[in-house]
Amino acid sequence: MGLYRVGFLVLVSFFCVYPSLTEGLVRHYKFNIVMKNTTRLCSSKPIVTVNGRYPGPTIYAREDDTLLIKVVNHVKYNVSIHWHGVRQLRTGWADGPAYITQCPIQPGQVYVYNYTLTGQRGTLWWHAHILWLRATVHGALVILPKRGVPYPFPKPDHEKAIVLSEWWKSDTENVINEALKSGLAPNVSDAHTINGHSGPVKSCPSSMGYKLSVERGETYLLRLVNAALNEELFFKVAGHSLTVVEVDALYVKPFKTDTVLIAPGQTTNVLLTASKSAGKYLVTVSPFMDAPIAVDNVTATATVHYSGTLSSSATVLTLPPPQNSTAISNNFTNSLRSLNSKKYPALVPKEVDHHLFFTVGLGVNPCPTCKAANGSRVVASINNVTFTMPTTALLQAHYFNISGVFTTDFPKNPPHVYNYTGSPPANLATEKGTRLYKLPYNATVEVVLQDTGIISPENHPVHLHGFNFFQVGRGIGNFNPKKDPKSFNLDDPVERNTIGVPSGGWVAIRFRADNPGVWFMHCHLEVHTTWGLKMAFLVENGKGPNESVLPPPNDLPKC
Ligand code: C2O
Repeated sequence: MGLYRVGFLVLVSFFCVYPSLTEGLVRHYKFNIVMKNTTRLCSSKPIVTVNGRYPGPTIYAREDDTLLIKVVNHVKYNVSIHWHGVRQLRTGWADGPAYITQCPIQPGQVYVYNYTLTGQRGTLWWHAHILWLRATVHGALVILPKRGVPYPFPKPDHEKAIVLSEWWKSDTENVINEALKSGLAPNVSDAHTINGHSGPVKSCPSSMGYKLSVERGETYLLRLVNAALNEELFFKVAGHSLTVVEVDALYVKPFKTDTVLIAPGQTTNVLLTASKSAGKYLVTVSPFMDAPIAVDNVTATATVHYSGTLSSSATVLTLPPPQNSTAISNNFTNSLRSLNSKKYPALVPKEVDHHLFFTVGLGVNPCPTCKAANGSRVVASINNVTFTMPTTALLQAHYFNISGVFTTDFPKNPPHVYNYTGSPPANLATEKGTRLYKLPYNATVEVVLQDTGIISPENHPVHLHGFNFFQVGRGIGNFNPKKDPKSFNLDDPVERNTIGVPSGGWVAIRFRADNPGVWFMHCHLEVHTTWGLKMAFLVENGKGPNESVLPPPNDLPKC
């Protein structure tokens, strides 16, 4: 009897410690949203965190697992959490963008995000999706393949999530509120961080950098996440080349590079082989910006540290790419191809039901109270619509047929035709609206995202919720609807959830609207989202048994 009990206990604790014996498990996580005092970058300030950590905890799961993440809001801000890249098939209620799929979790309130990781594996991430709280409220989400299913590349000896971010000495909510008052751009950050550490920088020379300890001869899968608010980043390791194997939780044809480009919202898995015999090697994280826009040019550093190397030994250095390295950026982007294997085919829509042409960029609207900007304010738009956030969540309004919250007349084309990448049009003003674009279930969609040069051309990492899409084309200048589609790649284009529209150029993406609900699409530069570079798709229910939005959970927050 005694032995039997012990055996039972051992078995129970065994399953608790190793919950990954089978897939299709339910995994519970608890996120306490709490303030935490930090002394990073030699400034001591309270920041909003999950469980007191920056970056927040990494979530581990397997394909087909169900996650139940209980979020308890202990801070004075409204909060919501987005699981960036998780498809949320029929479970838009768990997607997270505030006022799009849910009302925010108010101070003192609780919400359990409940969703299943269907047909996805790789590195994704999670972040707050309200105000600028994602500056410090973010972390990695790792979905391992089903048990017994190998990676389509040599098995690494170790895996490590590497979260890149931006750090402001002052409170980020103040940074954006000041900017909105003035009508001008917000202050750039004071440093970049690698897993929470900037490395020694001018403003805080003593700050320690992140250390990645390695063993000679072993291979490391680095799961890179760009959680920065506003900056595309280059990632480099001195003396080592990196093999890219996955982006946005989708396998790619492996290729070698010494520099990775990663935009806010994107994730990139690379293999790093510790091929040297010993030593310390510098890792650099630095901004990419090839337009006349101010960025934080402080390079964050970390070290790859071989075991047995003295801390006092000299570090092998490398220089980060110059900030405006368009060629390095293009070279990286053009190397990305879907793996397109038998097991992981690239299911590119060959026929298109909805052809959309969206201009993405900035604008200038009147603002009598904006003194610093001479009575005007910088805004952003898609097809000249500056998206206005509703006060009732769009998915609720859709599901419960609440009228007056949104319209479904989002324009298919820009209202004025002009030379988008040439000199700006006479009128820089935009219109406001909460306008959605409606799609029937399973429609195929092509969106050409065209950058505009109003104020300045700029790279826009555009993220679509609820779907992955294929980047079938990319070019500089204005998209030519007659000529450019002829060179589209419909065989093995890269598939992802966040795509960089190049400065003064365009990208064409395709996806199948096989997920009913309301899905946000926006620039993942937080400043542009704030300014209105966002819209949403409303995907109608299908007729089949598994083709409609599931009912909302009972604890869905109220506005
Ligand atoms: Cu990662 Cu709507 O965001």
